[in-house]
Amino acid sequence: MSTIINTPEGSRDRLFDECTERRRVQDTLTELFSGRGYTEVSTPEMEYYDLFVQTGTLLPQESFVKVVDRSGKLLVMRPDCTVPIARMAATKLKSVPLPQKFYYNETVFRSGLANKGGNYEFSQCGVEVIGAGGTESDIDVIALAIDAMRAVSPGPFHIELGHAGLFRALAEELKLSAGEAERLGRLFEGKQFAALNQALEPYRDEPAYAMLSRLSRLFGGPEVLDEAEELAGKRPKLEELRRIWEGLRDRGYGDYIRFDLGLVQQLHYYTGVIFRGYVEGAGAPVLSGGRYDLLMEQFGRSAPAAGFAVDVDAVADISIRPHVQEDTHRLRLAVTKGRLQEDSVKLFEDAGLDCTPLRDPGRRLVHELPDYPLDVVLAKAPDVITYVEHGVCDLGIVGKDTIMEMGSGFYEVLDLGLGKCRFCLCVKEGTDFYGTYKRRCIASKYPQVTREFFAGKGMDVDIIKIEGSAELAPILGLADAIVDIVETGNTLRENGLVAIEDVAQISARLIVNTASMKLYRDEILDFIGKIELVLEKRSGSGQD
Ligand code: PRP
Repeated sequence: MSTIINTPEGSRDRLFDECTERRRVQDTLTELFSGRGYTEVSTPEMEYYDLFVQTGTLLPQESFVKVVDRSGKLLVMRPDCTVPIARMAATKLKSVPLPQKFYYNETVFRSGLANKGGNYEFSQCGVEVIGAGGTESDIDVIALAIDAMRAVSPGPFHIELGHAGLFRALAEELKLSAGEAERLGRLFEGKQFAALNQALEPYRDEPAYAMLSRLSRLFGGPEVLDEAEELAGKRPKLEELRRIWEGLRDRGYGDYIRFDLGLVQQLHYYTGVIFRGYVEGAGAPVLSGGRYDLLMEQFGRSAPAAGFAVDVDAVADISIRPHVQEDTHRLRLAVTKGRLQEDSVKLFEDAGLDCTPLRDPGRRLVHELPDYPLDVVLAKAPDVITYVEHGVCDLGIVGKDTIMEMGSGFYEVLDLGLGKCRFCLCVKEGTDFYGTYKRRCIASKYPQVTREFFAGKGMDVDIIKIEGSAELAPILGLADAIVDIVETGNTLRENGLVAIEDVAQISARLIVNTASMKLYRDEILDFIGKIELVLEKRSGSGQD
């Protein structure tokens, strides 16, 4: 047996300044929290798997790091700190009077990020206040979150507020089924502006339509509360947010506050205000929290509660990474090289941008536009997604095929109508693909899309990943079929293959990093607005 010299996927050794910086962030937060009367608790690193499933977390099951105990029970490495602390407060501390204020320094484990260079394990430092409800308590917790960010943030930051009940109330008003609400919720969470316009069309005559059709764009300063009230009138959740905002402003925290009324938080246990902290240099929120008034009663002790956690590793990483503080931020947009490149440049030119550097790019990979604060990066499709997810590019143009294959941890704001084609199941002419009980083998550059397509049919198939022309696989006898992109159909025709079924329609999308959208809101909305105008003109003249 060879000697193991690597750490498992998603884990890493931490050396020297990484440890020092992590400890500094933890110590600073610990001092702050204990100084405010919070006491430290610690829950087990491993918990029963069912604990997290029964409490309604929407974290995908595959993101849990699972362990089997010696009696065969399924355990998970703690994926979240709030649920175990609620369990502990409702059971072990049942006789201790409320409110109780806890802080923790814990490692949480979530897999599925490793292929994106992310960690399985990261360090969280946070607080939970159990037994205190209402606006004053919300204000206290959010003020503490701002103090925490003030103490450890390596750069300018803001805290963004939303309300977990806002979308739910609107969904109830439209009498959406659970499935429809979830589908629509995903579109809101992804700020899929164009797709939302279509999805909301059937509700045009509903009183809630005006608000819903704007909801994904209602983010920014306190003026979004005014706009929401103009659209939807006074609503309890909006009034709650306004009271929280006024309370924070009166305590001198107003400058740190932004809003996103289109937040549909992933963790289902939130019931009231939800909030996230953004800091320049991090491609994702570094703090998140909210009110969860119904979680405790699941463990037999009803009590309102709220809390938040700081992602200690994310904060420490920005502090030690060389980071250029910018006076004005130039947006960075990654464009997929090759087929989409020419169409993207044409789109920018139609939007009035001078694209001279992109007309003769040579071997240069980064191009500054002369009259607009935008740098265009040319990259391969999967890399466009990687750069945008990591926040080193604010925006990207990439095909839906790559998004479907790689998943989406970003906002997919516009369907650009470029590079239209289809994902198809294709076979050699004359093959009766479904007319046999034999186990089928499918070759594809898109194994994930292929897996989902056949899983949807309840079919178990073998999938072979191909890097180049998948059409070769059935010709050479490696596979019974391929799942691939068909544009003109020439490649299929010239190789004696036919498409027998559509898997999905494909076109290029404009994607935006979730943190950039909040940090550079005005610049990004300006760019999106320019592109939308071109798309409107094109669809008006039948060019889309
Ligand atoms: C895609 C796809 C097909 C071909 C289809 O490959 O994988 O092979 O285009 O286009 P058609 O229907 O117009 O003939 P691409 O040319 O992007 O190259 P790749 O094999 O390097 O991915």
